[in-house]
This record gives sequence, C-alpha cells and structure tokens, in this order.
Amino acid sequence: MAKYKIAWLSGDGIGKDVMEAARIVLDSLKLDADYIQGDVGWEFWKKEGNPLPNRTIKILRETDCCLFGAITSKPKEEAEKELNPELKGKGYVYFSPIVRIRQEFKLHTNLRPCKSYKGNPLNYRDDIDLVVFRENTEGLYSGVEFHPLPKDLMDSLLKNHPKMKRFKETPLEDIALSCRIFTRKACQTIIRQAFEYAKKFDRDSVTLIEKPNVIRETSGLMVREARKIAKEYPGIELWEANVDAMCMWLVKNPQKYSVLVASNLFGDIISDLCAQLVGGLGFASSANIGDDYALFEPTHGSAPKYAGQYKVNPTAMLLAVKLMLDYLGEDESAGRLGSSIAKVIEEEKVRTYDLGGTASTLDVAKEIVRKLS
Ligand code: NAI
Ligand code: MG
Repeated sequence: MAKYKIAWLSGDGIGKDVMEAARIVLDSLKLDADYIQGDVGWEFWKKEGNPLPNRTIKILRETDCCLFGAITSKPKEEAEKELNPELKGKGYVYFSPIVRIRQEFKLHTNLRPCKSYKGNPLNYRDDIDLVVFRENTEGLYSGVEFHPLPKDLMDSLLKNHPKMKRFKETPLEDIALSCRIFTRKACQTIIRQAFEYAKKFDRDSVTLIEKPNVIRETSGLMVREARKIAKEYPGIELWEANVDAMCMWLVKNPQKYSVLVASNLFGDIISDLCAQLVGGLGFASSANIGDDYALFEPTHGSAPKYAGQYKVNPTAMLLAVKLMLDYLGEDESAGRLGSSIAKVIEEEKVRTYDLGGTASTLDVAKEIVRKLS
C-alpha cells in the first residue's frame, strides 16, 4: 500500500492541463502515493445538477489531502440555462465547490506565498517575499445573508442596536444584509498559524490587516486576540495595519513586509494584490489547511479560452504541489522541487506565453523535472 492517498480533482478547462503537469513532476519525485480521481466542476453541474457529487466528498474523506486544478463557475441565471433540460426547474441551485469543501472540511487556514523569483520578468520588484494567511471559513464569506431583510430580524435589530434606527423607514425589500461573523476561535487559529509560520521560518514580523477603527466589533476581536497571542512570540513583532492603507503600503514598499494575516474578505483581496506583485496568476498558489485535511490549488480559474491547449503557465500549480509536499512532511522533495522551479525561472529559457515564451505547459514541467537534483 502506498504511503499516501491523494484526492486528484482536475476540474475544468486549464485545471486539467496544469494537473497533468503536476503529475509529471510528482511521478518524477517518486512520491509514494495513490492518486484517486474525483469528479468536480461545471460538467457535473450540467449533467447532475451538482458540481461536487457526494461520491467526490467520499473520496475526500478517505484521502490524506487533495490536489485541485480549477473549475468554471457562472452566475445564477447562466448556470440554470446550461443545466441538462431534464434537470431544469427541479430546484437545483449552483454552489461553489471550493467554498463548500473549505467549510465542510473546516479548512480554516488559507496560506498564499508570494515571492519574486529571480529572473521573472513580471516581478514588480525583485526582493518580495510575502506569505498571506487568510481566515478561510467565516467572516463576510460565512454565507449568512438576507434579502429582503426578514421583519422579525429588523424588529430585533431595532430593539438591540441604536444605529439601526436610520434604516427604520426603508422598505424591507430594499435592504440586503450580509453578516460578518468572527469567532474568537477562528481568530486565534489564523493568528497562531501566522506566528507559528514566522517562528518556523525565522521571520521577524507578522502584520495584522484589519480595520478596527471602523468595524469595531469584528476587527476589534481579531486585534485583541492578536495582541494576546503575539506575547507568546517574543522575537516576532506584531504590526497592525488598516486594510486600505495596507493596499498603498504593499504597492509602495512590499519588501518591508513578511507574514500577513487577515480575515476572509480582506485576505482574499490582499492576496490577489500580493500575487500580482510577483507575476500574477501564473505564479499564485494556495494551501487550504484544516486540523485533519488540506487542499492545494493554484489560485487561477479554468481560463476557458486556453482549455486543452497546454499554453498556460504551470508554475502556480507546481508551487501548490510544493505546498502539499511541505504539508505531508516530505521536506526533501519539497526543497528539490522549490529549487528546480526557481532554476527554470532564472534560466529564462523554457517559458510559457505569459512570460513572453512559446513553451507549452508540459515543456515547463519536463524542464523542471530535468533540473531536479
Ligand atoms: P482565470 O483565472 O481562469 O483566467 C483569467 C486569465 O488569466 C486567463 O484568460 C489567462 O489570460 C490568465 N491566466 C490564468 N491562469 C493562467 C496561467 N496558469 N498561466 C498563464 N495565464 C493564466 O479567471 P477568469 O477568466 O475570470 O475565470 C474563468 C473561470 O474560472 C470562471 O468560470 C471563474 O468562475 C472560474 N474561477 C475558478 C477559480 C477556481 O477554481 N479556484 C478561481 C477563479 C475563477
Ligand atoms: Mg480571490
């Protein structure tokens, strides 16, 4: 029996192309693993009315972790239009498989490294080495939303909060409400993960990105927990920044920052900004980590116009493979893969179109294999 069981979810479009590149690299590293293919994505929404069939959830439950390509998702009306005619009007509702997996498997930590590799022509600067920790299960993405606002909720809010009064005369159907839910536990978890990472990799600061001067209760809770936890890590400074100011600072002086930590929405925004500083979607990978399960993915989508053409850059996917190897404790393979990716970028020879080259997705993977030492 192999040492690991890994769920293999290629998904749609270029998800399939980059997963093929991942397999070439994993086979060459001789990772002792069984890869178990699972169905996910648009094809299964159209055919079955479910983009994440239960059989796939079962595979996830029976594996150590998951490697995920990318999926297509579309707005509500379009999703319904493309549903198999026999399934139309039967109450099927599209949902995001990746958000469902994060919540169902309690993958509370989203880790996104953003490093400028030497030789990457798309670097904003050559000395950036950021790691974003984003809370992955709650905050504004908790999914607790209302439109119209239910009357009993309006009554209760009017009774419980003085600031609600100015909305009193607005018709309920003209009010939408999305709840930003923070639990103390999730705040502590994400902050602790950020500090543990800083400790493990000798980083000297953790920057908490919130907005406590305006969003007093949720951001306030996060800040208080961060200050408490920071005391346990004497060599690591806690810096606090407002999210709006931080967008400016990251453009002005990204090299000054190291580990960043934020709630779900702010982390989502900041991590895209950071990704672009080091070359954008072709280089942005992410790990979704919980207490008992983890999923690794590039952050890009299915890029339908390039589907099946093997044109896109597999680096984001291969960096996700590296994060998976780190998670599995396969430090030697992770290190070899990391150096090999860096060498191929630095050599400036085998490059996909986004870097001005003509190499294919699989050419890059094979070159990385050649450079593994
Ligand atoms: P996208 O990330 O799929 O692609 C946007 C553009 O970025 C592409 O047209 C291409 O020019 C470039 N690009 C993306 N990945 C690249 C790579 N590896 N190498 C080089 N260039 C790359 O975003 P888009 O077009 O907004 O969305 C397409 C579909 O993907 C949608 O259905 C969307 O909902 C879905 N999506 C899925 C995600 C996921 O599976 N985690 C994340 C983001 C979008
Ligand atoms: Mg995003």
